[in-house]
Amino acid sequence: AEPTTPAAERTLVLVKPDGVRRGLSGEVLRRIEAKGYTLAAVELKSATPELLAEHYAEHAGKPFYGPLVEFMLSGPILAVVAEGQGVIAGFRSLAGATNPTEAAPGTIRGDLARDWGLKVQQNLVHGSDSVESAEREIALWFPHL
Ligand code: TYD
Ligand code: MG
Repeated sequence: AEPTTPAAERTLVLVKPDGVRRGLSGEVLRRIEAKGYTLAAVELKSATPELLAEHYAEHAGKPFYGPLVEFMLSGPILAVVAEGQGVIAGFRSLAGATNPTEAAPGTIRGDLARDWGLKVQQNLVHGSDSVESAEREIALWFPHL
């Protein structure tokens, strides 16, 4: 008999305000799809301080937290739910290292982002870092899903 298909994994991807502003939303979606993942939801959103306080709760009190929230409020964000086996780790791999100067060429951040000398890394994308984070973040950004 065929093995049963495991439940598909989902992750939350955000194209941050720098990515939307620079016209790179399509490029990020293209890379997710080219890798073979499926787009389960895509919606242009405006964040709020309340939403970001929950989304970035793990970073509250860190020196970059204030500038990070200010940056995330600076323009629209494209929120995406991507689906597929291994998509949580797989998208983190596509995104590359948090610091865009160190991110490897071939990755979204390595190819498309750089250090601008600001207090926060403007690194184009967010990707959930675990199954628990993904479920929590998808519920925050897509309460109807
Ligand atoms: P983090 O969750 O550590 O990185 P990632 O987005 O790769 O999961 O941090 C969240 C965001 O905070 C990160 O994308 C950019 C910003 N940040 C800084 O600006 N400076 C820093 O030193 C760190 C660690 C993060
Ligand atoms: Mg993170």
